[in-house]
Amino acid sequence: RPELPADESAITSWRDAAAAAQRCTRCDLHCHATQTVFGEGPLDARVLFVGEQPGDKEDLAGRPFVGPAGQVFDRAMKEAGLDRARAYVTNAVKHFKFQLRGKRRIHEKPNVGEIKACRFWLDLELQFVKPRFVVALGASALRSLTGHASSLASARDRELALEDGTPLLATVHPSFLLRLPDEDARSREYARFVADLARVQQRIF
Ligand code: URA
Repeated sequence: RPELPADESAITSWRDAAAAAQRCTRCDLHCHATQTVFGEGPLDARVLFVGEQPGDKEDLAGRPFVGPAGQVFDRAMKEAGLDRARAYVTNAVKHFKFQLRGKRRIHEKPNVGEIKACRFWLDLELQFVKPRFVVALGASALRSLTGHASSLASARDRELALEDGTPLLATVHPSFLLRLPDEDARSREYARFVADLARVQQRIF
């Protein structure tokens, strides 16, 4: 096993980063997950989306947002006039964290330590993609990108920015929409999510 570079300067390309991330032991999540799920998308993407962490399907496929939340994301992107194939899509945490219940692997929220440890990889993705616009999907992504805890509700309608000035928009995580029990609330919140994505579309073109 090649040594994992200790700092970012040893990694000079997205390819190096993606390969090195497969051997990551910066937190304990690598012990039980199937594989690292690194971000994907064109390196000249104008917009970079950050989710929370891979789910069950993503962990097995090795690709972000390919499960149920990914389907909601794909549909909303289309409705907002955004092409997912032209966006870079990644997660705040790159290993699946779960609790085993019988044979089912139940998603567990990453903690602050795991989010901070994985920021190393997100920083590299930001550095190599240099997006014009970043979107935080949910509170964990927002926590990672801003470095501090803040409520999604208060961040959602504000214009935020990363430390380097890149504009940041916070919106809900698509799986939040899947969890809403009430159909009316679900369609209302879904429409609001699409409206947020449409705002992104207007900002990047
Ligand atoms: N939820 C996420 O936050 N990311 C994924 O890749 C899939 C589900």
